[in-house]
Amino acid sequence: MDLFEKRINNMGPLGSHAKEAHGYYTFPKLEGEISPNMNFRGSSKLVWSLNNYLGLANHPEVRKADTEATLEYGLAYPMGARMMSGNSTIHEQLESELAAFVSKEDCILINFGYQGILSAIDALVDRHDVIVYDAESHACIVDGVRLHQGKRFVYPHNNLENLEKQLQRATNLVNGTPGAILVITEGVFGMSGNQGSLKEIIELKKKYNFKLLVDDAHGFGTMGKTGAGTGEEQGCQDGIDLYFSTFAKSMASIGAFIGGNKTIIDYLRYNMRSQIYAKSLPMPLVIGAIKRLELLRTNPELKDNLWKIVNALQGGLRQAGFNIGTTQSPVTPVLLSGSVGEATHLTLDLRENYNIFCSIVMYPVVPKGIIMLRLIPTAVHSLEEVTRTIQAFKEIKVKLEAGQYNFQELASFN
Ligand SMILES: Cc1ncc(COP(=O)(O)O)c(C=O)c1O
Repeated sequence: MDLFEKRINNMGPLGSHAKEAHGYYTFPKLEGEISPNMNFRGSSKLVWSLNNYLGLANHPEVRKADTEATLEYGLAYPMGARMMSGNSTIHEQLESELAAFVSKEDCILINFGYQGILSAIDALVDRHDVIVYDAESHACIVDGVRLHQGKRFVYPHNNLENLEKQLQRATNLVNGTPGAILVITEGVFGMSGNQGSLKEIIELKKKYNFKLLVDDAHGFGTMGKTGAGTGEEQGCQDGIDLYFSTFAKSMASIGAFIGGNKTIIDYLRYNMRSQIYAKSLPMPLVIGAIKRLELLRTNPELKDNLWKIVNALQGGLRQAGFNIGTTQSPVTPVLLSGSVGEATHLTLDLRENYNIFCSIVMYPVVPKGIIMLRLIPTAVHSLEEVTRTIQAFKEIKVKLEAGQYNFQELASFN
């Protein structure tokens, strides 16, 4: 059988909608300056789907730093992997600043969050070790776990009783062997907005011997008094052995880091294959990250603005009777009932008639029969935009419940 034919005949759960969805529901193009108002297919939309939490994406100082660094260094420097020829004082400066900000001894820069965390998991465990992880973990964690050659135990999302059972199983398994235990969770879960129960997980260290890796992609910059993340928010940053965040969200860039004790970070420096065998981050990204971190640290009003919008949006939606699940962070899911067909008709109406653009999450990402509209509030949204959005949501909910979107086929946008 021809390999490509076999693949093309089954495009996968998302790819099977590609023909009707491409360019609108999937792969849409948001154009113009990154802001709450961007162009989509020729008209301006109020956008709620960018993780530009603090509005740093096009902050004038960020733009200036990115541009000046690009003019000075271009995109090539430094060449090669950090270990061989791609290190610089400025890379090390960013690492120390990030480490200090998240209250860790040291930190390693990584090129992309996804491959970085996958590679960190790969470097941390061998076939004797056991990974215990939350069932709602991001694909990068799941894929890291897939590389693991030893046992892996998953616990239902934030279910501490079950986590303890898995820790007992894992402990029994590794006792008397060269094995050890790694627990992995997220600080803020990107779909539900729930916080991981970090404090309670860390409490379990009193009974079980394990190390804790936390992916705080959505918590960094948004949670905690200084924006240092969900560990700071819950007062348990010390108990997180490895703290990860990407630059793809609050920092509005590319890159990521892992903070921890110096010895284990040095171990990662010399053992993470994604870093040893890949070119280091180009200078403009490093200098740009230093500027973003400075703004994040010195402008608490960015986070205050974000939370003003979060509270108005989530409070308003709840008051209007919407089910926004159990979010404890800026991530705002709106859960409705309906088929995939209804979800697309509703989204089309929202985008074309209300000029509101938010991400739509459908089966298989959420269970069949659930439509999840996912809103990401940012520091640069306005209260007027919140009010407009809640009004539009009320209207589409009435239409959905009256069966006005009830078509089996996906809505056509051409
Ligand atoms: C929870 C979580 N972890 C990791 C990543 C991956 O980060 P990156 O985009 O830097 O690869 C993302 C998405 O950006 C994420 O939401």
